[in-house]
Amino acid sequence: MASAMLNGAENLTLIGGINPKRLGFIGSDFHGRHFSKMGLVSCSRTSKGRTFLPKCSASAPRPASQPRFIQHKKEAFWFYRFLSIVYDHIINPGHWTEDMREDALEPADLSDRNMIVVDVGGGTGFTTLGIVKRVDAKNVTILDQSPHQLAKAKQKEPLKECKIIEGDAEDLPFPTDYADRYVSAGSIEYWPDPQRGIKEAYRVLKLGGKACVIGPVYPTFWLSQFFADAWMLFPKEEEYLEWFKKAGFKDIKLKRIGPKWYRGVRRHGLIMGCSVTGVKPASGDSPLQLGPTAEDVTKPGNPLVFFMRFLLGAMAATYFVIIPIYMWLKDQIVPKGQPI
Ligand SMILES: C[S@@+](CC[C@H](N)C(=O)[O-])C[C@H]1O[C@@H](n2cnc3c(N)ncnc32)[C@H](O)[C@@H]1O
Repeated sequence: MASAMLNGAENLTLIGGINPKRLGFIGSDFHGRHFSKMGLVSCSRTSKGRTFLPKCSASAPRPASQPRFIQHKKEAFWFYRFLSIVYDHIINPGHWTEDMREDALEPADLSDRNMIVVDVGGGTGFTTLGIVKRVDAKNVTILDQSPHQLAKAKQKEPLKECKIIEGDAEDLPFPTDYADRYVSAGSIEYWPDPQRGIKEAYRVLKLGGKACVIGPVYPTFWLSQFFADAWMLFPKEEEYLEWFKKAGFKDIKLKRIGPKWYRGVRRHGLIMGCSVTGVKPASGDSPLQLGPTAEDVTKPGNPLVFFMRFLLGAMAATYFVIIPIYMWLKDQIVPKGQPI
């Protein structure tokens, strides 16, 4: 398993491997709204590696210029309406295996069976199956905006005692200071405003509680970047750390994960590429203030535009079904111990 732990957001040192060139840009979303140049981090060299220092806000909704056709809540809803039929059979074997899940949940420190745990964007319950190995199922709540995904979770025997509820990651139906652990795996990429979702993670945790967000990482290879940008949000590692830091988390850590047959290759991005954890240092709400939500899901959209976006997004996603197969073939062909 390819995994590595990176520490801290206060003065973040990443040991190579990250290209900060793409972090400052001017762009617009699909509707022509323009984002200002973000300048998310500055980069300087130290003897140990590159040091990234936060420069200004990363809290703009959808902090990137690319169209990302599956990024609105309704698009994610319809995407999973269909994907849920094959999700456990296609997505998990190629991108999110059981050993990756173990690797990613390890920093969540699920050390007590009596812990109250929320699994946000829990979908078909694949990650929850890993959680209930460590925590009593009756203490675990699975939340997702897709009833179709949740219907699959309800069929799984080990999850029978879990609470299963529909809800929105950016507006959680839990009281403040409620849970010991917040877990969210492979969902942040569909949240229109990831910073808002992480702020919610902070709010619902108890003092000393831990959030563990597992998600994609952005590719460095141009073709993979093209398809990633057309599909959904592939955050950069420093963006995760910035979101956690701004929400108020302390002791922030990022662990790199990936399928073992990739042999640590990250240039094509990864749908599950890192596990980011942070500890809530004080009770109450997050110190971060955000304005009203950017997305009004009740407003009717243009059905043709919606359909075209959906189609293009789903086509771009297909590329990431092929990549793990390509990597698997390379792993079979290239002698062990050599880079692929
Ligand atoms: C890739 S699946 C991950 C499912 C599960 N966590 C796992 O590990 O297999 C992403 C899930 O996030 C859910 N999702 C997307 N946007 C959401 C939102 N705003 N609130 C709650 N769930 C959301 C989708 O419905 C989908 O089930």
